[in-house]
Amino acid sequence: MSTRRQFLRTGGTLAVACGAGLMGALLESCGSAKTITAVSSGDKLMVKRSDLEGSKSFVVVRGAPANLPADIYLLEEAGKFTALPMLCTHKACDLKPTGKTLTCFCHGSEFSSVGKVLKSPATVDLQPYKVTTDDTSIYIHLK
Ligand code: FES
Repeated sequence: MSTRRQFLRTGGTLAVACGAGLMGALLESCGSAKTITAVSSGDKLMVKRSDLEGSKSFVVVRGAPANLPADIYLLEEAGKFTALPMLCTHKACDLKPTGKTLTCFCHGSEFSSVGKVLKSPATVDLQPYKVTTDDTSIYIHLK
């Protein structure tokens, strides 16, 4: 992983943005998103429902196999779950959750909570992972 990418993944840009006092959606992103390490089970990641308690309706899911390019944004809205790769479709920078949108701090693209491009230069939507649930867990299907 490149140094620039490591910097972005660890929130370096976000820390700079927050320190600079940028407004709007950026301020909402300055609070840290809850991060969960999922359990990998074959071609699925399992997240316990209880792990989402105390979150802002979304979490960042880690623990994906090494062949996956990025963490996963998992959003719960009205009992429905959406899981998106946190990787910009423009030039593959990591995305940061900014409330119920995902923002790329490399060139400014923005995506909705269901992965639709809201702001260019990205022109390709994020492709959601299939999500299933049972009484205790949420399963993110990686294939
Ligand atoms: S890499 Fe995300 S906007 Fe360019």
